Amino acid sequence: MARKPFTSSTREIPDVSGVPQHIAIIMDGNGRWARKRFMPRVAGHGKGVESVRAVIRGCMAKGVSHLTLFAFSSENWRRPADEVSFLMQLFMRSLQKEVDRLHENGIRFRVIGDLSRFEPSLVDMIRRAEALTARNDRLTLTIAANYGGRWDILQAVERMLAKDPERRTGFSEEDLSAELSLNYGPEPDLFIRTGGEQRISNFLLWQLAYSELYFTDTLWPDFDEKALDLAIASYQSRERRFGRTSEQLCAAEKAPNQDEVGRNPADHAQD
Ligand code: IPE
Ligand code: IPE
Ligand code: MG
Repeated sequence: MARKPFTSSTREIPDVSGVPQHIAIIMDGNGRWARKRFMPRVAGHGKGVESVRAVIRGCMAKGVSHLTLFAFSSENWRRPADEVSFLMQLFMRSLQKEVDRLHENGIRFRVIGDLSRFEPSLVDMIRRAEALTARNDRLTLTIAANYGGRWDILQAVERMLAKDPERRTGFSEEDLSAELSLNYGPEPDLFIRTGGEQRISNFLLWQLAYSELYFTDTLWPDFDEKALDLAIASYQSRERRFGRTSEQLCAAEKAPNQDEVGRNPADHAQD
């Protein structure tokens, strides 16, 4: 069953199935992949586009409904100007080339992040691609571009407050989640970071609260469908307890309709 968007995993226990509904990936290691081959760093970014295609294919084959890819962080502006400019061009060229194919494959395309620093022509292209694919429902592909988790939380707070300027207290997690830029999808079940680093780098700070984390040394340009299968297999070997004990989970599995264990004490208080 499809999970409701922005269900808060700290407030309600989500339905979890064998296949992660939402996979979020930090695609890291392009520069090192190129350097290992005595090529300029940007060659790694070019090659990384092939991995994006492979992962989209893999997600569609497995029935993953949401895939979110970190393409450019709010901190990546600190890179040399020619690398930033190459990345922008690559984004534009890839979008131009792939948008029809995304649409034909039933993919809904979305971009999250602060687009105010982007060239108007790129923003226009993004908005057109989003509009074209808005009704597709096979896979929602979200690209995080000039995205930062802290930026996202701040803009969500501002929007939440603007909705009712009189209100000062009594906000719920759901009130805030509804204003986050990824408010149309469930929280990620599986977070993958390639390239060997074990950090979140200001990605989806709010939504990763209960995601399963998977780190691999594989560099992004080497990440393919097989590597995705390994990550999913690792996910499937985990026990997602959401604060409960292992014994409670076993009991709930044996008597699925009689369990109260899934509920928050806070919810009982409202009964
Ligand atoms: C990730 O690869 C791509 C972006 C951040 C755009 P990197 O460019 O960070 O590659 P490494 O980490 O230097 O190898
Ligand atoms: C994170 O990669 C951002 C993207 C993949 C777009 P970085 O390579 O920029 O991350 P840090 O700065 O090394 O943590
Ligand atoms: Mg990196």
